[in-house]
Amino acid sequence: PPAARYEAENATISQGAAESDHTGFSGTGFVNTDNVAGAYVQFTVTAAAAGSRTLRIRYSNGTAVDRPMAIAVNGAAAATRSYPATANWDTWATDTLTVPLAAGSNTVRLTATTAGGCPNLDYIEV
Ligand code: GCU
Ligand code: CA
Repeated sequence: PPAARYEAENATISQGAAESDHTGFSGTGFVNTDNVAGAYVQFTVTAAAAGSRTLRIRYSNGTAVDRPMAIAVNGAAAATRSYPATANWDTWATDTLTVPLAAGSNTVRLTATTAGGCPNLDYIEV
């Protein structure tokens, strides 16, 4: 099936907020997490069947320092990815990886692993 898009501003946000003070986002805004390790955004995504799926994460990082995140699916660690600088906070990039999903409803949690917090997050696609 075609990828479904899940906007970060509609997801569960821990230590952060939905904002719209930069351009180029999809939907009504993006999530700006606090600059703290452990901040996260959690999405609920649906899969028709169990199996490996392509996960795309659209982000922006207007700093010069990477903003790594741990990616957990249904509470299990799936990956740790680094999110390097984009040109500025109005410039978005997409990270693509593969994650295992169960049939039906799944949680996908993106958690900052360093004191910078998450990059700004626009959406994920599965
Ligand atoms: C700036 C920017 C935010 C961003 C933050 C950060 O305040 O406007 O969108 O989230 O930097 O460093 O995380
Ligand atoms: Ca932030």
